[in-house]
Amino acid sequence: MASLIVTGGVPLSGTARVSGAKNAALPILAASLLARSPILLYDCPQLRDVENMLSILAALGVKNERSGGTLLLDASCADAYVMPQGLSKALRSSIFMLGPLIARFGNAVCTFPGGCEIGHRPIDLHLRGLSMLGVRIKEEHGLILCDGSDLSGADIHLDYPSVGATENIMMAAVAAKGDTVIRNAAREPEIEDLAVFLRKLGCGIAGEGTSTVYIRGGMEKTDPRAVISHRVMSDRIVAGTLLCAAAMTGGEIALENARATHVASALAKLREAGCSVDTGEERIYLRGPKRLREIKLIETLPYPGFPTDLQAQFFALCTMAEGTSIIVENVFENRFKHGPELLRMGASYTQKDRTVILRGVPRLMGARVAARDLRGGAALTLAGLAAEGETVIENAELIDRGYESLENTFSALGARIRRENGDTKEEP
Ligand code: EPZ
Repeated sequence: MASLIVTGGVPLSGTARVSGAKNAALPILAASLLARSPILLYDCPQLRDVENMLSILAALGVKNERSGGTLLLDASCADAYVMPQGLSKALRSSIFMLGPLIARFGNAVCTFPGGCEIGHRPIDLHLRGLSMLGVRIKEEHGLILCDGSDLSGADIHLDYPSVGATENIMMAAVAAKGDTVIRNAAREPEIEDLAVFLRKLGCGIAGEGTSTVYIRGGMEKTDPRAVISHRVMSDRIVAGTLLCAAAMTGGEIALENARATHVASALAKLREAGCSVDTGEERIYLRGPKRLREIKLIETLPYPGFPTDLQAQFFALCTMAEGTSIIVENVFENRFKHGPELLRMGASYTQKDRTVILRGVPRLMGARVAARDLRGGAALTLAGLAAEGETVIENAELIDRGYESLENTFSALGARIRRENGDTKEEP
């Protein structure tokens, strides 16, 4: 397993361009199954989760060629609707392939996705929504078998504004007879990016970004020769992560290709912690204070509330913020695994169920720690950047799922950080 080796104490400075969003690219890649013409996808991030999704699509007959952040996709020859078991288990979020497979082929078979490091991740809202569209679903031997040969529009109310369930239902409903309404839909910006992409494929979508999304049944015919192009939206979680790194090291950075409106809740908390934050057209500028101040309360909530995917990074920040900060994780049931690792670095907190109370310490100390999940691994890297001495973050592959070479991004901002692969020692 690879590790990141960080020597802390260097204030980050400089400019970084934020990559395309993992959580927008993944559903958009799934939706490529609905296209009869070639697709040019710009700013598609080079991440393990994206590569896994491309392997799943390739197994279904979707061709892809990559040149840097630009991807050429051709789903015209897609000819299978049984998802490869190993790959779809490795990529939990492949569950939202069901929608486009059903829309394209009238059938879909996928593995029952296991839970993951942050919770058991049920899919009941996905399956209930699809069955309301007329999909007949059987679960046997760990497989989900869907017969969607007779889809009809429906008025669907989600018990919880699930991002994946909203996306899955949107992508199936485009092939239904009659229109569909999704109420209590997720409002995340990634849903909006998917809707923009679906409209380019000839789908009728409205209301995305609000709690009520309308999907017209049936797709308009588009010219099979006309190349469809789309630029993936900027990754708001990567942006928030880099801003936390600058805040924790007392640095000064500018982010390009960053939408301040997408991270408004996080910017408010960074200002509360004493950071100076300015924003411009697709730019965010942050200067960290000499000493971070406590953040009274962070509660993770569906968008536009504070994003659960930034909870771990702010947990790390609050370990050093003068005073007492409180974090409540409302979205996932097991998303504090970075806590015990931060204790090894001198953090001080108590936890009761989904609430942690953090008492800020003046300085973290470098230690050997292990990433337990994607965002927790990023949080430990931030702690290492701010800590005194050397920190080794094991299981760096988990971080690669959601960040394009995090060590290179931070090195370019002045950090002393390098990667060591399990079997080879890379020179700094
Ligand atoms: C998406 O996951 C993101 N992943 C997650 O990012 C993100 O944390 C999450 O949305 C919340 O914003 C992708 O977009 C690929 P949900 P998703 O369905 O769709 C419960 C990262 O680090 N639920 O909104 O799986 C679920 O258990 C990842 O980039 C049901 O009960 O999230 C959870 O408690 C982590 N039944 C809550 O809803 C269901 O059928 C939120 O889940 C579905 C979900």
